[in-house]
Amino acid sequence: MRVLVTGGAGFIGSNFVRHRLREHPDDELVIIDKLTYASDTENLSGLRYTLIRGDIADAEAVKSATRDVDLIVNFAAESHVDNSIVSSENFVRSNIVGVHNLLEAVRRTGVRFHQISTDEVYGSLPLGSQERFSESSKYDPRNPYSATKAAADFLVRAYYNTYGLPVTISNCSNNYGPNQHPEKLIPKAIINAHLGRPIPVYGNGRQVRDWIFVEDHCSAIDAILQKGRYGRTYLIGVDNEQENISVVRRILSLMGRDESLIRFVEDRPGHDVRYAIDAGGIRGELGWRPAMTFEAGLRATVDHYLKYMKRYLMKVNGAMQNVP
Ligand SMILES: NC(=O)c1ccc[n+]([C@@H]2O[C@H](COP(=O)([O-])OP(=O)(O)OC[C@H]3O[C@@H](n4cnc5c(N)ncnc54)[C@H](O)[C@@H]3O)[C@@H](O)[C@H]2O)c1
Repeated sequence: MRVLVTGGAGFIGSNFVRHRLREHPDDELVIIDKLTYASDTENLSGLRYTLIRGDIADAEAVKSATRDVDLIVNFAAESHVDNSIVSSENFVRSNIVGVHNLLEAVRRTGVRFHQISTDEVYGSLPLGSQERFSESSKYDPRNPYSATKAAADFLVRAYYNTYGLPVTISNCSNNYGPNQHPEKLIPKAIINAHLGRPIPVYGNGRQVRDWIFVEDHCSAIDAILQKGRYGRTYLIGVDNEQENISVVRRILSLMGRDESLIRFVEDRPGHDVRYAIDAGGIRGELGWRPAMTFEAGLRATVDHYLKYMKRYLMKVNGAMQNVP
């Protein structure tokens, strides 16, 4: 298969390219990536792929990249909620206009398309409740990032209903693992702990997320690509609800650092308090199971950042000024 991976130089996209080449060694991987501050071609080192530097919000670039491919998996997006609160224009362009361009290409070519989305489209659950998001939960995005992802999901659903296209969507919980940009909580905590710098934690740190190791997310996507039903949405989660503060404490303990590095800072506006996922759909229908425990995944993640610390420090010191 010739597989077009959009956003393949980012965190999850690069892990997916690695996963896909390992599981399907005969595949040909083509990546289209705008190479924003969040990308890094080092994430793809040692892999066999063709890279197109291009913007999915550019209809002509999408037209040419989608010629002669058998499958499109869309990871390309502006992904950092904090940036979307400062300015959401790039989020609308990449996350909505970009998806529209891809869907138009699918309409022309009939090629199989999978949209990578987030559990954030469902909004926030009360702390301490047993409620979880399911495929039938109502969309209720509460920040500009999740609103653009929700809009894209609706476009994909609408194109399925209107044109009967071969499309699927997955909404996954928070990912962690190798290659994530240091702007995100877990890499930032590891890097700051290593440097002995304060680790900022929003509000009281009691926000709950269902943390999934990125490789498990990739295996779930692959299961959907192989056996998923067109028009269907699959929720991906691993029943690993953790408070942000407890994640940071675990990292400090793994790294033998003191909790005095934790600094509570003013909360993010509209910060969702809890996400939780009922992944019964993908487990029951596709037989998918995660392979990694949180302990082992966090250990592997800490080891990765320590090993490549120099590379990540360059991003912390330089690229953070280029955020949209
Ligand atoms: N990180 C998570 O925890 C998480 C959870 C659920 C869903 N998602 C979704 O997964 C996808 C990937 O997330 P990530 O964490 O890997 O993000 P990321 O920011 O690490 O990577 C995004 C990649 O997309 C590229 N990109 C951005 N805009 C583009 C455009 N207009 N055209 C082409 N390329 C563009 C960037 O250069 C980068 O390489 C996103 O759609 C995100 O919404 C992420």
